[in-house]
Amino acid sequence: MEEQQTSPPQTLHGEVYYPSAETVTQANIPDPEAVRCEAEADLTGYWARRAGELEWYRKWDTVLDESNPPFYKWFVGGKTNIVANALDRHVRTWRRNKLALIWEGEKGDLKTYSYHALNREVCKFANVLKSMGTGKGDRVTIYMPRIPETVIAMLATAKLGAIHSVVYGGFSVEALHGRIEDSESKVIVTADGGYMNGKVVELKKIVDEALQRTAAPENVVVVKHTGREVNMEAGRDYWYHELMNLPLTRNSMKCETEVMDAEDPLFILYTSGTTGKPKAVLHTHGGYQVGIYATLKDVFDLKEEDRWWCTADPGWITGHSYIVYAPLIAGATSVMYEGAPTYPFPDRWWTIIEKYGVSVFYSTPTAIRGLMRFGASWPNRHDLSSLRILGSVGEPINPEAWRWFHKNIGKERCPIMDTWWQTETGMFMIAPTPAMPLKPGSGTKPYFGVQADVLDEHGNSVKPGEEGFLVLKRPWPAMLRTIYKDPDRYMKTYWSKYPGLYLAGDSARKDEDGYFWVIGRVDDVIKVSGYRLGTAELESALVSHPAIAEAAVIGLPHEIKGVAIHAYVITKAGVETGETLVEELKRHMAHEVGPIAKPEKIEFVSSLPKTRSGKIMRRVLKARALGMAEGDLSTLED
Ligand code: WT7
Repeated sequence: MEEQQTSPPQTLHGEVYYPSAETVTQANIPDPEAVRCEAEADLTGYWARRAGELEWYRKWDTVLDESNPPFYKWFVGGKTNIVANALDRHVRTWRRNKLALIWEGEKGDLKTYSYHALNREVCKFANVLKSMGTGKGDRVTIYMPRIPETVIAMLATAKLGAIHSVVYGGFSVEALHGRIEDSESKVIVTADGGYMNGKVVELKKIVDEALQRTAAPENVVVVKHTGREVNMEAGRDYWYHELMNLPLTRNSMKCETEVMDAEDPLFILYTSGTTGKPKAVLHTHGGYQVGIYATLKDVFDLKEEDRWWCTADPGWITGHSYIVYAPLIAGATSVMYEGAPTYPFPDRWWTIIEKYGVSVFYSTPTAIRGLMRFGASWPNRHDLSSLRILGSVGEPINPEAWRWFHKNIGKERCPIMDTWWQTETGMFMIAPTPAMPLKPGSGTKPYFGVQADVLDEHGNSVKPGEEGFLVLKRPWPAMLRTIYKDPDRYMKTYWSKYPGLYLAGDSARKDEDGYFWVIGRVDDVIKVSGYRLGTAELESALVSHPAIAEAAVIGLPHEIKGVAIHAYVITKAGVETGETLVEELKRHMAHEVGPIAKPEKIEFVSSLPKTRSGKIMRRVLKARALGMAEGDLSTLED
């Protein structure tokens, strides 16, 4: 590559992009291998050092308690609250005047919040929640568009020591209903609607419908965002702006941050699993804040003067960790945008980067592939010189999209941080730092102190280049602590295939340089446009339609979405099949689960391949669809 290169420490194999000398010298971590050695030699020492960069009401006694695996505990004895690090400590310094959040609505409206302002709004809303009886350990469901009030509601909940359960605003009635019911939330925070692609998503209407299916929570708080008329039920529904302007107490702009044990729950976040209902992954205050802060600072090299933009939605773990909490803990300025990347034109994102001077930009392969379609002329008409580092998450990035991103957005100057992690891991697990050589499509190596491996069926490490199961061998501070209300499922799902090791559910390869290449899910989780959906959830939504008797769902490769949903359905006797029913079923899926759950293709069949015990053999369906060998069929029923 160009002259600026430092000489590579060793020659790596394949297509390699070495960091420029400038990138290395200005990086927060100029010598990643030295830090890797430090963390490997003394894992708890490393994490204690990083935890020491944050504030604690009381310091921990024990960094890592491994006495009851897999129920690991971090920073035991420590007293903290993530909000103390995200807001309280900043408003005591000059940072009170720094922008915490720059928000742009899809319609072009702009709102900014300094740390002082964000803290004030969070305190006010915490007082509102408190007046509704919300306290330590209570659950609050947040079902919102991508607006600042989402961030405010999350922080206000955490400040009180209550547990938030954010449900992605793209989910619909049944998905929302299940999550409200399982979490037993007494309060729901929502909005009259949000803008997406020039249309209004009527969130309050979806809430009303979901609440008809469940025991009603006591209070629903509604943010007025679109101004559309909504149904407000007296005694249950309240306008956010009215509550925020009530003189609740004489000090309603101040609210004490609740002192929490490091291991107290911070939030639950539902994620699709292999079977049955979505799992509520539980994260805690102490370890989570340390893990997400350290990884954001190191991997994205975050600096005081940066403007950080993570394009995810707060409703996913990416948003929880890297829109809401870590950037605030790091004292950064975040950009947040409400709408679609192509509205009104395919250069909306590039306009935003130019307009606000974004320097670190974190997005997804699906979005890159989608925007790539429109050609380089769209980014080329913008000044993107403020950019310094790029990132990718959610699914494997194909080298072609990587190169396009590198060339047309990063102008061959900006390294791309491909970060592999999960709702469960809370923080980046396999990811480079900017001073490391990159290979398109690889997340490079595990983050400092993380030990990953690729194993065969019997638990042996596979040879370089061979495919196997991705596992994590040591605990990490931002790890999930359990599945809320279901510790058995936690043990079975993640810790039973290889006792003592965390099973990620992905297949991967490790190359001769020790670089990891994640291939995709090996379970019945489908990653559609990077969104995680479970076959069980999708199939149960299909059979909830009166015309359908049985359904099976698989993921097949798709040029833009990475993977798309293909459904096979058996109709009930006497039902007329055809295009009308296909359209009807797609609408049904969008209504019950959400627009992302609309199948790409629906096929009517008269039988499904099943094992003798009645389990659908999705791998057989997949092999047939791809025209591949069907493999071992000895357990097939007929
Ligand atoms: C699954 C986790 C945590 C980020 C958002 C997704 C896939 C995630 C990558 C990547 C290849 C990736 C895996 C993983 N995945 N990042 N950089 N390269 N695959 O969180 O919804 O919990 O999904 O996303 O399959 O297991 P999630």
